[in-house]
Amino acid sequence: MNHFQYRDGVLCAEEVPLNLLAREAGTPFYCYSTATLERHYKVFSGALPKDSLIAFSVKANGNQAVLKTLAKLGAGADVVSGGELARALAAGIPGQKIVFSGVGKTKAEMRAALVADIHQFNVESEPELAALDDVARSLGKRAPVTLRINPDVDAKTHAKITTGTAETKFGIPFIHAREAFDHAATLKNIEVVGVDVHIGSQITELEPFELAFRRVGELIGELRAAGHKITRLDLGGGLGVPYENNNEPPPDPAAYGAMVTRVTKDFGCRLSFEPGRLIAANAGVLVSEVIYVKRGDAKTFLIIDAGMNDLIRPALYESFHEIVAVAEPRPGAPRPVYDVVGPVCETSDLFAAGRPLPELKSGDLVAILTAGAYGAVMASSYNARPPAPEILVKGGDWSIVRPRLTHEQLIEQDHIPGWLAD
Ligand code: LLP
Repeated sequence: MNHFQYRDGVLCAEEVPLNLLAREAGTPFYCYSTATLERHYKVFSGALPKDSLIAFSVKANGNQAVLKTLAKLGAGADVVSGGELARALAAGIPGQKIVFSGVGKTKAEMRAALVADIHQFNVESEPELAALDDVARSLGKRAPVTLRINPDVDAKTHAKITTGTAETKFGIPFIHAREAFDHAATLKNIEVVGVDVHIGSQITELEPFELAFRRVGELIGELRAAGHKITRLDLGGGLGVPYENNNEPPPDPAAYGAMVTRVTKDFGCRLSFEPGRLIAANAGVLVSEVIYVKRGDAKTFLIIDAGMNDLIRPALYESFHEIVAVAEPRPGAPRPVYDVVGPVCETSDLFAAGRPLPELKSGDLVAILTAGAYGAVMASSYNARPPAPEILVKGGDWSIVRPRLTHEQLIEQDHIPGWLAD
């Protein structure tokens, strides 16, 4: 459920008409709904055991205003870089609610996280463990660690966002888990606190999760029998969201929560979760204006002013996003078929192929839905296009929470070396 609905013939974010925002801020722009972010967070956290840590995955949407909205509800953060750590802390998320994931943490990033007294490091390899032990020693600290285990379970999602099979770079292979825990226990500046697992993203069935969680449960039993003190279990993120208005939505948070509760009830661990997409995806849209309708030989192209530099998911994963007209179409109005493309000079700058949409003309507005996660965070300035700004709505209020950079601001990021100076 989200708060983007037609009111008086115009698509609104909560009470704010998107055409008003287009007039005020220009297009393209991302628009997020506070009520939707809050609702998703509450529904997810409400479905899980009470003392769970919900660490929002900052990679999905790192805007300070979004993070602060979630922080106010008690959310923690899952970070994968020094930059995300800094963002989470700057938004007021306390170190004690931050988990640090990722296969390539540098020593500098580890140091910053130890100084911030984060909740835990989700360590993904033995060399990383050695580096963390070194850094913790140099600071006179013990680093709280879970080891991320790769359970070799197929999450049945897109290959580019699968992380829990043996072929991927993520986690410690299940068969080496025991050794890795035994080794970790010998390191003086490492405090092993638990196990972590994350098998992929946009997962639309519960079975792969359940299989992975059961495997991890068996491992916890073995580890305890071997004398390890396992008190925490991080179950990662990955629950999918409906991108398409069809009849088969992915399992909802209540079903996921019921499965988690059933499977983990005897594990004796405090749970943590790292949802990203589930919280943010349907809390955001990308609004764009039609530049031209171009009638080709074989196709009609709707050329819009958002490009793959603003939202790269369709180009990168061929992912589907619903596209709707901001002006509510009359019931029964014709729906011609368009290829919806951006202005970037790449054939893959394609948001939708053969998509039936209401009749549109130059100057009309469209909204690309489910764009609140892995949208603005993956934007670039390719083709020297300033990435779309971000706007946060709350009820009837709105605020530009990241402005559009000017061409001058983009140019100023480059520096001319002395030998080229005039
Ligand atoms: N935890 C870890 C360790 C992760 O690697 C990820 C996502 C998450 C949590 C959050 O997963 P979520 O709940 O959002 O599914 N750019 C891709 C998605 C990449 C996901 C990477 N890891 C996309 O646009 O679909």
